[in-house]
Amino acid sequence: MKIVVIGGTGLIGSKTVAILGQGGHEVVAASPNSGVNTITGEGLKEAVAGAQVVVDLANSPSFEDKAVLEFFETAGRNLLPAEAAAGVRHHVALSIVAIDRTDNGYFRAKLAQEKLIVASGVPYTIIRATQFMEFLRGIADSSADGNTVRLPPILFQPIAADDVAAIVADVALAAPRRGIVEIAGPERAPFNEIVARYLRAVGDPRQVVRDPEARYWDGRVEERSLVPLGEARLGRIGLDEWLRRSRTKT
Ligand SMILES: NC(=O)c1ccc[n+]([C@@H]2O[C@H](COP(=O)([O-])OP(=O)(O)OC[C@H]3O[C@@H](n4cnc5c(N)ncnc54)[C@H](OP(=O)(O)O)[C@@H]3O)[C@@H](O)[C@H]2O)c1
Repeated sequence: MKIVVIGGTGLIGSKTVAILGQGGHEVVAASPNSGVNTITGEGLKEAVAGAQVVVDLANSPSFEDKAVLEFFETAGRNLLPAEAAAGVRHHVALSIVAIDRTDNGYFRAKLAQEKLIVASGVPYTIIRATQFMEFLRGIADSSADGNTVRLPPILFQPIAADDVAAIVADVALAAPRRGIVEIAGPERAPFNEIVARYLRAVGDPRQVVRDPEARYWDGRVEERSLVPLGEARLGRIGLDEWLRRSRTKT
């Protein structure tokens, strides 16, 4: 089966391409570097021709509110009609848990991406994941003021990129759900505690301060603002195991 992975060179994309390739499928890792660009439309028609499944794992180069909204809207408006014209049977996209009940600019852009998918007529599955463990440093950086990282004690349940890619590959090979599947890591704990554990483990001297008023990407958050509320498929890799694997890789 021909499967196109848009953003196939990224963190989740490259892992997903590897898993699907091992399964003997014809996998195309599509990205601007390989001449496929969802913003300009370059190479899109050729890439999706003959594909049964398209997995969209692209991300915006800029996280600024307006830029990220424009990225996901333009990409969806170019990609989804190209898929419909090519008769693609399953569009899989990676989104984020709670984007419809937690407000920040990036989440608004992901919600816009989801709406275009639902309206496109292409059979789809949207996978909403919690924050990736690989994103913990970025979260600490965005919440840091000098040596202090302020984070709220809300519930947090990060998932390892290896678990995300395994589930994305699995979903890509299954029938379209015409709905949302939620996925999360195996451990749920206060946000400030998880980031503090991560910083200590990697030898980062910054101190995490528990601050119930601290925001997440400038948006207000409450106890369950970032975790699945209902049933979720769980990854297998906990934070300690992920840290151990990260150490052996470097
Ligand atoms: N970070 C999190 O915690 C989190 C949680 C849940 C869901 N997600 C979602 O997961 C998805 C994947 O994230 P990631 O961290 O794996 O991304 P990433 O590592 O930043 O990779 C981004 C990919 O997008 C490609 N790309 C950029 N502009 C493109 C364009 N115009 N046309 C086609 N491809 C383009 C890049 O290609 P080049 O290599 O050629 O630049 C790269 O392959 C995103 O949609 C994100 O919203 C993230």
